[in-house]
Amino acid sequence: MGGFVIRKAVLSDATVIADIARLAFYQAFAGHPANSPEDMKAYTEKAFAVETISEDLKNELVHYFIAELDGKPVGYAKVKQNSQIECVKAKKPIELCRLYLLEEYIGKGFGGKLMRHCLEFAIENGHDVMWLGVWEYNYRAQGFYKKFGFRRVGEHIFQLGSDPQIDWVLQKELS
Ligand SMILES: CC(C)(COP(=O)(O)OP(=O)(O)OC[C@H]1O[C@@H](n2cnc3c(N)ncnc32)[C@H](O)[C@@H]1OP(=O)(O)O)[C@@H](O)C(=O)NCCC(=O)NCCS
Repeated sequence: MGGFVIRKAVLSDATVIADIARLAFYQAFAGHPANSPEDMKAYTEKAFAVETISEDLKNELVHYFIAELDGKPVGYAKVKQNSQIECVKAKKPIELCRLYLLEEYIGKGFGGKLMRHCLEFAIENGHDVMWLGVWEYNYRAQGFYKKFGFRRVGEHIFQLGSDPQIDWVLQKELS
């Protein structure tokens, strides 16, 4: 029961996050011919290890938000306060590090709700700019971010295992 809720994750959520993060990442990217199974495995084994997520959850600048539908996790977001990158000019930036829904819940309004939740958190905490990296071939997410007022300001390398991929860096001014 309870419908759709977004809650801030606590340390005991590390396993829940690791599971949903790994699954959502595979659903989003494993089918693309540019991504080899070896690179996917190498990246996800480290990035979504319970220890990695636990370390994140202990970092007071990192925040995970879990989206739940009737008590079941269906997506999550991760933000990092004061995260810097050269092409983003800001007094107090915040990075949207991850925003993922499980495949079957995409396109039903939940992604927008998670995005708005992150934007509200950023504004409440006095951030002036939100930025993120999005894969150059992730057209769906690019369209979504554009709709939310993000614009491209540069690019950086995202290392997927042995493969240096290009991420566009997008930013949005907050007010
Ligand atoms: C990105 C993602 C979270 C968006 O979630 P979503 O559930 O599709 O978003 P919503 O249904 O809430 O859409 C919110 C708004 O954005 C719009 N939108 C969604 N995708 C869009 C697209 N590709 N282009 C333009 N607008 C888009 C919707 O039409 C909706 O507009 P409305 O409020 O006027 O109706 C989702 O696609 C996802 O999880 N993708 C896989 C993981 C991923 O790629 N994450 C980003 C990594 S950088």
